[in-house]
Amino acid sequence: MPGKQPVLIRTIAEMRQAMKPYKANGSRVGLVPTMGALHAGHASLLKRARSECNVVVASVYVNPTQFGPNEDFNKYPRQLPLDLDRCGREGVDYVFAPADAEMYGGGTQTLIHVAKLTERLCGTFRPGHFDGVCTVVAKLFNIVQPDLTYFGQKDAQQVTVLKRMVADLNVPLQIVVCPTIREGDGLAMSSRNAFLSVEQRKQALCLYNALQAGRNVIVQGIKTSSRINAIMRDVVLAAGPFATDYLEAVDAQTLQPMEELAGTVLLAGAIRIGATRLIDNLLVDVT
Ligand code: PAJ
Repeated sequence: MPGKQPVLIRTIAEMRQAMKPYKANGSRVGLVPTMGALHAGHASLLKRARSECNVVVASVYVNPTQFGPNEDFNKYPRQLPLDLDRCGREGVDYVFAPADAEMYGGGTQTLIHVAKLTERLCGTFRPGHFDGVCTVVAKLFNIVQPDLTYFGQKDAQQVTVLKRMVADLNVPLQIVVCPTIREGDGLAMSSRNAFLSVEQRKQALCLYNALQAGRNVIVQGIKTSSRINAIMRDVVLAAGPFATDYLEAVDAQTLQPMEELAGTVLLAGAIRIGATRLIDNLLVDVT
């Protein structure tokens, strides 16, 4: 069913102008920040926003400040016409898709840095990445001024860092975390899956398999993280010679390692299949 096309907005001034009547009449404004190449994972956030808000804004912006110099910024998929169709089908009202000059023109000098939470996991392998994420998300929050904003558990560290930022800076909104949407075989949906060859697509499943193996041994009563980490690593190694950035059990709140697992544990991994970096995670309650 083709939906009504959302209104495409390119400038900050027009975005603010469009939100004015909703803010004035007390409507609930929902924002779903994305980098586009929308798939069913993004769509689940849009659906949730649609069901909870009076007006839904999706941003589609491949944010240069969160990519390192040797990362995939230039080849990141860009497909705005398809994304507009998808947003239309999900009932999105506005799509904010600014140019780089609109977001970062004017000699910007400010970066938002969340300290401890960004020092481990992806932060170790992507220096500066979370500064870029926090900065662009804070800008989007200030431009759209949503009441509710939707993020995926798929990017667990991102959600944890952004929640910290919102709390520390007293940003007046609520972050809603949505579950990870997976392909039929369990691979977490990601815009980067499009980079995988048929063979690599099969191999990529080893990340989810490793996390599940970790969860299984926890459920069986093993609580020592070094043992669990080793079991997860073995699953990836058995699948092929893939570089593992990290694959470990950490405290879900602090993202710090803990030798004896307790409370809510995050099993988190990042591996490289060829040139493609994939991340995934599972939350496990250890009783
Ligand atoms: P992007 O990777 O496009 O993801 C946009 C949102 O969709 C994020 O909140 C992400 O966690 C969520 N998402 C992606 N894949 C998902 C899946 N399989 N299941 C559920 N949710 C999923 O994350 C970013 O963009 C950027 O860092 C951004 C926050 C937009 C800042 O530039």
